[in-house]
Amino acid sequence: MSQPLRLGIAGLGTVGVGVVKIIQQQADLLTMRTGRPVTISAISARSRGKDRGVDLSAYAWEDDPVALAKRDDVDVYVELMGGSNGPAKASTLAALDAGKDVVTANKALLALHGQMLAEKAEAAGRVIRYEAAVAGGIPVIKALTEGLAGNKIARVMGVMNGTCNYILTRMEATGQGYNALFDEANKLGYLEADPNLDVGGIDAGHKLSLLSSIAFGTQVDFDGVELEGIQRITLEDIRAAADMGYRVKLLGVAQMTERGLEQRMSPCLVPADSPLGQLEGGTNMVVIEGDSVGQIVLRGAGAGEGPTASAVMGDICDVARGFRYPVFGQPASTLAQAPRAQSATPAPYYLRMSLRDKPGALAKVASVLGEAGVSIHRMRQYDHVDDIAPVLLVTHETTRADLDTALEGIANTDAVTGAPVALRIETV
Ligand code: NAP
Ligand code: HSE
Repeated sequence: MSQPLRLGIAGLGTVGVGVVKIIQQQADLLTMRTGRPVTISAISARSRGKDRGVDLSAYAWEDDPVALAKRDDVDVYVELMGGSNGPAKASTLAALDAGKDVVTANKALLALHGQMLAEKAEAAGRVIRYEAAVAGGIPVIKALTEGLAGNKIARVMGVMNGTCNYILTRMEATGQGYNALFDEANKLGYLEADPNLDVGGIDAGHKLSLLSSIAFGTQVDFDGVELEGIQRITLEDIRAAADMGYRVKLLGVAQMTERGLEQRMSPCLVPADSPLGQLEGGTNMVVIEGDSVGQIVLRGAGAGEGPTASAVMGDICDVARGFRYPVFGQPASTLAQAPRAQSATPAPYYLRMSLRDKPGALAKVASVLGEAGVSIHRMRQYDHVDDIAPVLLVTHETTRADLDTALEGIANTDAVTGAPVALRIETV
């Protein structure tokens, strides 16, 4: 029989335990598919005594993930702790230095240090695989790197954070605010150790920056992602958007334009009847557009124990089979530093404002929009309550700069109370 592939697993939380379970329960299947046994030599986590619901007694224990990464009986270091620095970074570097391949689910680490780690891995002839880092169980890294390798990619977009999609869709279904839904997402194992990474759009931004790098042959540029989270999305917006035929999604878009690389992760409206509009719960969707393939849509569970462990195992099986390619699909030394687009591609916007019940109030809003060059496509006004009427507008395509001028102008009139809400409507 061929030599076993021996793993060292650091991190025994939601994902780590999921990986251990698959290795224990599917040993024969894995051997059959990869041609060699996949075994665990050693493990590490913070708390040795914690009951994790799986039998770990056969594996050596290391308190220090760096020591685990360097062990002689480890061929592949599997980093499932998380965090962009600290032990995750130190142990990944130690593993590469010690000549190990690395499999990780850590998007934060790669979004911030991907170029450096890729250069280091490739110089050492090692691979870093990270399918689980983007869109959980969906094999999107494989799709972009392998299946679509013959395409010039025009655009990559999608819903890539299970927590946010879970919260937004449950808000709509249950009428609860997003704070109340944290616990539900947490119980499902969706949340990052720091949930601000989820609701702040940062986790999804990390993922988008990794997809951009593969899609456009550019160095990972997380700082170039225009980021906005879902914290300011209210039930009122979700309901009003639905009334206009849209759903609110934390949507990532990356495209190479004449103005440079555009990367955005922000709450957007998408048509309710579009594939993205129909996504529920922790499901993710990634839409890729290539010059030869056209548009393809990948959909599946974006977070949680089983789906994420499934993606980690896909990578481990590839390493076991001896399947190797550069971290971002082409040698790290050839990845270009893309210029950042300084402004987003024009789009229609949804505006919600509270209009005072005064003669000429609506005319003032329309005139400020007109003066800024923003044209109204659709409009709806609801009944007044206490002399205030909610007004919803959908504009024609406009630049964000023109829209901001209009929003400032509207806020400065006495026609509305409070600041208008503006959300981009994405063409999908
Ligand atoms: P988790 O449940 O919080 O588990 C983290 C594990 O890492 C725990 O076992 C923890 O030990 C261990 N750990 C933390 N700091 C450590 C340290 N300094 N030394 C040794 N062990 C340490 O996290 P998770 O949800 O499994 O996520 C793990 C990674 O997968 C993260 O990079 C995350 O972004 C990524 N990911 C998660 C999902 C998901 O759905 N959960 C999906 C895709 C990607 P203790 O258990 O002893 O505290
Ligand atoms: N916290 C992440 C999410 C886990 O909610 O999508 C999957 O990367």
